[in-house]
Amino acid sequence: MSKRTTELVKKDNLLSENKDIDVKEDHFKELMSIYEAAMDKMTMYLNEIKRDVKKFYDYDVIDHISSRLKSPESIITKMEKKGYELNYKELIENIHDVAGVRVVCPLKDDIYKMKEIISNIDEIKVLEEVDYVSKPKKSGYRSYHMICSVPVEYKDNLLYVNVEVQIRTMAMDFWATLEHRMKYKSSVGYSEECSKEFIKFAKTITSLDNKIEKLYEKQHGKNNIVVLKR
Ligand code: GTP
Ligand code: MG
Repeated sequence: MSKRTTELVKKDNLLSENKDIDVKEDHFKELMSIYEAAMDKMTMYLNEIKRDVKKFYDYDVIDHISSRLKSPESIITKMEKKGYELNYKELIENIHDVAGVRVVCPLKDDIYKMKEIISNIDEIKVLEEVDYVSKPKKSGYRSYHMICSVPVEYKDNLLYVNVEVQIRTMAMDFWATLEHRMKYKSSVGYSEECSKEFIKFAKTITSLDNKIEKLYEKQHGKNNIVVLKR
């Protein structure tokens, strides 16, 4: 979490230092509504990008955008798992994916275009980037992750709030959605066999992404989207 976020939030006294979290109280709900506003703001920026690129290049650099707010239960579970004290300071400083936005693109190259475009938005501060596209996780998972700090107006203050942005292709999204379902939602658990199969599927998906990108370039030439500062 950016220092600015904590400082600004502190100023408002909404998130007094070591106050314990009670997900039922208004304090918590208010914090969630701030994260929600940041998530919506990020989605708004992304929709503008989608629209502009379509208008100027007649190209869909984004297939679709989805967003979700982490549930109170998931926040608490994650904090407990990671060994954080259950207070607001720890939550704000360490849990970066309370607000999450997913950008699903047609081609692999679009992912890099998108992360550049996002980095060039003046109002947004990029705090962290992890490229799991060129360096996939052991599971086979691929996506480009960014932690962005987004300004939100709140009671006459400008708060900078973290939003996790995951950028991936439609094929990567297909893989990640099903793998996640098998891993966490299945009552029978995620077997060694499952894990091995999904590593293989990830390779197939990577090969497919690369082939489709090549074919697209052969047909249409390389995308020449110019990334301007916004
Ligand atoms: P978290 O505690 O999950 O936030 O881990 P982290 O902070 O080390 O971040 P990481 O980049 O590993 O993962 C962040 C998010 O990426 C997860 O919450 C998932 O949405 C997604 N993700 C990461 N690894 C996998 C994976 O192996 N499979 C799937 N389906 N999704 C993954
Ligand atoms: Mg994370």
